[in-house]
Order: sequence, then C-alpha cells, then structure tokens
Amino acid sequence: LTGYITFDPGFKNTGVTKSSITYLDGEEGILRYRGYSIEELADKASFLEVAYLLIHEELPTQAQLDAFSADIQSYTQVNQDLLKISEGFPVSSHPMCTIAALVGAMSAFYSTDEAGDDEKSVLRLLAQLPVMATWSYKKSIGEGIIQPDTTVDYCSTFLQMMFAKPGEKYTADAVVSKALNKLLILHADHEQNCSTSTVRLVGSSHANLFASISAGINALWGPLHGGANQEVIEMLEAIKADGGDTDKYIAMAKDKNSGFRLMGFGHRVYKNFDPRAKIIKKAADDVLKALGVNDPVLAIAARLEAAALSDEYFVARKLYPNVDFYSGIIYRALGIPTNMFTVMFAIGRLPGWIAQWKEMRVNKEPIGRPRQIYTGATSRAFVEIAQR
Ligand code: SDX
Repeated sequence: LTGYITFDPGFKNTGVTKSSITYLDGEEGILRYRGYSIEELADKASFLEVAYLLIHEELPTQAQLDAFSADIQSYTQVNQDLLKISEGFPVSSHPMCTIAALVGAMSAFYSTDEAGDDEKSVLRLLAQLPVMATWSYKKSIGEGIIQPDTTVDYCSTFLQMMFAKPGEKYTADAVVSKALNKLLILHADHEQNCSTSTVRLVGSSHANLFASISAGINALWGPLHGGANQEVIEMLEAIKADGGDTDKYIAMAKDKNSGFRLMGFGHRVYKNFDPRAKIIKKAADDVLKALGVNDPVLAIAARLEAAALSDEYFVARKLYPNVDFYSGIIYRALGIPTNMFTVMFAIGRLPGWIAQWKEMRVNKEPIGRPRQIYTGATSRAFVEIAQR
C-alpha cells in the first residue's frame, strides 16, 4: 500500500479526477459548463450547442453547429436488428431497461476498434438514443415506430417520433420543443455524479464508449439518482390521492423507521439550493400556463417545498429541492409518460457522459481500482465437509 487508505464510502470527500468540463459550487448554488452559467445556457442556447460545448470544449460557430447537427442527422437510421432486439422486450419493460440494453448492444453492430471510431460512436449515440428511446413508448401504446424527421431540430425530431401517428404530418408545438430544449440542457452534465463516475470507471478499463454509456444508464436508473424524477411524480400523486396532506408526508420523511424519503429533495453537493431546480420550478409555471395545463400536483409540490424548508429536520440537514423535484411536472405537461422521465434525463445527460469519458481517455487516466478496509475472518484452515 502506498500511504494511508482514506475510508470514504460513497466518495463523499474524495476527488477522483481533475476535470475542466463542469464546475459546481454546492454552497453558492453555482453550475457552469465549460465556464458558461447554466442560467445563460438554458435561456439562450440550443441543446446541440451545449452538447457541442461539453464535447468539444467551445461553443460552436454557426458552421460548426450546422455540421454537427447534419452529422447527427446522418446517423439517425438505426440498424434494424437493434429494432428486432427491442421488439423482443415485454411490453411491460421499463424503458430504462431497454435503452441500457440497446446502447450496450450497439457495440455488436458498430465498430469500436478502428481509429476515429470513437467520433462515429459519439455521433451514433447522440443520434440513436432518442430514436431507440421512443420505441418502447410506441410499443407500450400499441403503435408502430415513427421514422425520425431530420428536417427539424433535435428536440422536435424527438417529439415527432414520440407523438406523431403513422401516416400523419406532425409539427411539434414550439412551447413544448422549447421547454424540452431547456430541460435537456439543465441535465446535460453534473461533474462526478454516480452515473458519470460509472461511465468513467467502466471506460477506464478501456471498455468501448457504448458499453460505458450503457453502464451509466443503469446507474442513472436508480431511485436515489435519475430515477428520482419518476419517484417524485408518483409521490406527489400518492399525496394527492391521500387528500393532499403534505404534513403527513413531511412527518414520514423525518421518521427513519418509515422507510419514506421526500423524493426530489436533498443533494450530495448542493447544500443551499440546486440552481437547476430554481430554473425548472419557474419553467413549470410558465409552461403549464402557456399550454393551459392545470396540474394539481404542482400546487402540492410547492406546498411540500414550503413546508420542508420551514422544518428544522430539512433545514438542519440542508435538504432542498433538487433537479428531479419539478422536472416531472413539466415532462407530464409535455405529454411524456411517467416511466419515460428518467429516459429524458439520460438523453439530456448523454453529452456530459460522452465529454467525461473522452476527457478520462485523452488524459490517459489509470484504470479505476479503489481499495477497502477489510473486516472479514482472519486466516483459517480448510475443514472437510464431513467435519462441518
Ligand atoms: C440526482 O450527484 C448528483 O449530482 C446527482 C444529480 C445529477 O445531476 O447527476 O444531481 C441527480 O441524482 C439528484 C438526487 C435525486 N435523488 C433524490 O431526490 C432521492 C432523495 N434524496 C436522497 O436519497 C439523498 O438526499 C441523496 C441521495 C440525493 C443524497 O444522499 P447523501 O448525500 O448520501 O445524503 P444522506 O443520504 O447521507 O442524507 C443525509 C441526511 C440523512 O439523515 P441523518 O442520517 O443525518 O439523520 O439527510 C437525510 C438522511 O436520512 N435525507 C433525507 C433525504 N435526503 C437525505 N431525509 C428525508 N428525505 C430525503 N430526501
């Protein structure tokens, strides 16, 4: 052993890498991608601009963005045998299960061994994840898949594949497409969170990009991580069904024996407020008003937030709404089904995962291999089974 082992379960106080991609300040509630504030990017940029920024380190010129977008559009045709794999999943499959499997399966269809393949894999992932994400939704509603309309922007193409009916002309509502653009930007990267650390760790063994991203999707699915956005809506629905009694659920969340957590609350890094939650909360108000949607869980969420933030238990533990607390309310207003919320998180986080994987490989980081504190049996002799 070289020096001391720091016992730090969950890496709460461990810096595992040096990165120039995303800056978080948990006390001040600051989030920047390559130095640009999330507030400005969410308001002024397109998701593909932000994807380009994360992956290529600079905001693109118009020519660079046009080429990037055209390259992605040229890769939207997914190998039909991947569609056959997708069709083999039960209709009840969770979409996170199917996209994790399909992204992992991409390495069976596309070369990852030749020079330059990583760049093609980046474009294929950005192009094909949204396409494959819509397959399980269409299957769940008994409709055929819709081929991507590459004449419109990235978000509108996704909405078209989700909501167009076979044979019908579909135009994405501008409010919906703009809201989706903002949400994807807000999810695009978040330094060394659980799923990104997973992508880096898997990639550190020189596993290919598809395998690494598939592992990240699986990590994101967990209810303590990206899966929380689905859990939040289910929690809010349960509170609504239970007469909207937020105090009862606040009390449950404070009772360790209840096994209940206020989903969408708390964060490992943000100990003041999650800047994304502030932006999404305002966007939820704006989008629901613009779409004329009256969702009673929005009021329940606001009441739950106010009650928690005036309660000593939450204040003492610095628990505030995180990115997942309000995002599901917008996704629902956009018509996206609850079990697709974490898939939306994955589509948003994909450029961040890619940028982090590339940085780890370019910096030739060593294979990740943490140590442990051993607490097991001391040395003992083998006992024949007859004597056990
Ligand atoms: C994301 O890391 C990232 O950047 C993630 C993410 C990203 O963009 O990649 O921001 C996305 O995953 C957001 C988080 C989504 N998850 C949830 O909303 C699930 C609910 N939240 C928690 O499970 C929890 O707050 C975590 C997982 C977010 C953070 O967990 P930590 O940092 O390990 O904190 P902890 O579990 O040790 O909690 C500290 C204390 C404990 O109480 P005590 O033992 O000190 O008495 O706070 C309590 C916890 O019981 N607590 C909660 C709580 N979250 C923490 N109590 C009630 N409800 C909660 N939500």
